[in-house]
Amino acid sequence: MKASDPLVTAALAARENAFAPFSKFKVGAAVEGLDGRIHTGCNVENASYGLTMCAERVAVFKGISEGARRFKRVAVAADTRRLTPPCGACRQILWEFCGDVEILLVNPHGKTETHRLKDLFPKPFDATYL
Ligand code: THU
Repeated sequence: MKASDPLVTAALAARENAFAPFSKFKVGAAVEGLDGRIHTGCNVENASYGLTMCAERVAVFKGISEGARRFKRVAVAADTRRLTPPCGACRQILWEFCGDVEILLVNPHGKTETHRLKDLFPKPFDATYL
């Protein structure tokens, strides 16, 4: 994966829109739907803290609201030396809408890593249990 990958560029750009006045920790995410469209998100914090929404879920929910139903790739951008993986809640959401996809982790200094969601989230709950 290249730092110039459009999904990576989109996640880094979305990070610039992060609304993180409380943590100052800005996160961007981008998901690519089956039709190739890219949907982006940033974290949106709230003064009540618990209502804060992560960048990954904003990106997925925006994609769903724009007609996508499944995503084939995910990128997450944060300015950390140890690249930032999705939180547990986001892993659950990503599993439901992406399955075992590649998750690209990036920072604005050109560092990248690729992980499979199954490795980050090895025993997911999903609709097969219902
Ligand atoms: N955050 C994300 O947007 N994605 C993650 O996967 C981890 C955490 C946000 C939530 C909060 O606004 C800030 O980062 C600090 O936790």
